[in-house]
Amino acid sequence: MSSAQAVAPATGTEFAAVVNPLAGPVPRVEVPTAEVLAFHRRLPGYEPTPLLSVPALAERLGVASLLVKAESSRFGLPAFKMLGASWAVYKALRERLGADPEPWHDVDELAERLSPLRPFTLVAATDGNHGRAVARMARLVGLGARIFVPAGTTDARIAGIASEGAEVIVVPGNYDTAVARSAEEEGPRSAVISDTSWPGYSEVPRWVTEGYSTMFAEIDSSLAAAGRRQPDAVVVPIGVGALAAAAVEHAQRHGSRGALVGVEPTDAACATASALAGELVTLRGEQHSIMAGLNCGTPSPVAWPLVSRGMTGFLTIGDEWARRAVRELAAVGVEAGETGAAALGGLDALRDRGGAEALERVFGPTADVLVLVTEGASDLGAWRRILGVEVVGTPGGGVP
Ligand SMILES: Cc1ncc(COP(=O)(O)O)c(C=O)c1O
Repeated sequence: MSSAQAVAPATGTEFAAVVNPLAGPVPRVEVPTAEVLAFHRRLPGYEPTPLLSVPALAERLGVASLLVKAESSRFGLPAFKMLGASWAVYKALRERLGADPEPWHDVDELAERLSPLRPFTLVAATDGNHGRAVARMARLVGLGARIFVPAGTTDARIAGIASEGAEVIVVPGNYDTAVARSAEEEGPRSAVISDTSWPGYSEVPRWVTEGYSTMFAEIDSSLAAAGRRQPDAVVVPIGVGALAAAAVEHAQRHGSRGALVGVEPTDAACATASALAGELVTLRGEQHSIMAGLNCGTPSPVAWPLVSRGMTGFLTIGDEWARRAVRELAAVGVEAGETGAAALGGLDALRDRGGAEALERVFGPTADVLVLVTEGASDLGAWRRILGVEVVGTPGGGVP
């Protein structure tokens, strides 16, 4: 692993498009998609999130159709992250128990089966959504949660995690520092549930990516119900790349020839930097994009073999593109936070600025495009400020 130049904060309309120089055959990974979906269905509040067709945005972007997978509310939380966190927690606790808790029909029964583990604490590092999801899962199965967040995490995001009953610890430093701090907590009465991997720790992050397969299973069902084929291009926000790895696995299962394009903040573009360097790169300094969930300095090593070969290209954007995309999505009735809107922000930037001809061609006038909108208004204050409106209500309550 090497380390790249520190990058100045990119708060404006910075943009770059990069064709992935490492694209190639993807290693085959088996994912127990049916088991994962059956697990999620037994959790309280499970409902498939909507797949929306948005002709107004398709027209603006000059593509044939634009589909939005809208993760504004997932198990009552404002992001998709619970899909991965819940499955990883379940698999990790099953191992610690040393027995299969099946059969169980609802989460109370699961909590009962897992009770011999108590007292037990789930630990995670997060820039918001993953930690809140781990804390929610801990609460559901009657365990404690200790969540580490990097300095600069907004009060609203910290309050969201604390509202799940977790202890929240602010770590001086960036997301990578918080991850390193959380890793020290592994013990006989605690388990670290991380969405990123490090040497000697890769099983749990693999399970996190497996958990995300439910999002793609739902997309497949929605496409089938609407009589649509798989899209020509899927646009995915990238933090450590666990979600992008799930997108790559899904494409591999379908033998898809569609393009997969990742979007990162300009100053947290660790996957783009790694692709260009031909090896995993750690960005120096701190990442301060408003796309909080994407403020990661190093791609997850366990996701990287899939992301590095499976992605067609990368778009890196300054914060202003995310703000614009938040407003565009709100205008068509989709509640999306700054991180959640990033994928659309990348497409907007590509349409506006052009560059990397091969990527421009992917989003041509005959293309069916799917954008993963991974988060609702996790930080309601920030969302209101971006929209420039006073919104009465709680996150998940819709858009003005
Ligand atoms: C809302 C949201 N979208 C996308 C991502 C990126 O996912 P990954 O870190 O797996 O690349 C995150 C990560 O925290 C997130 O919170």
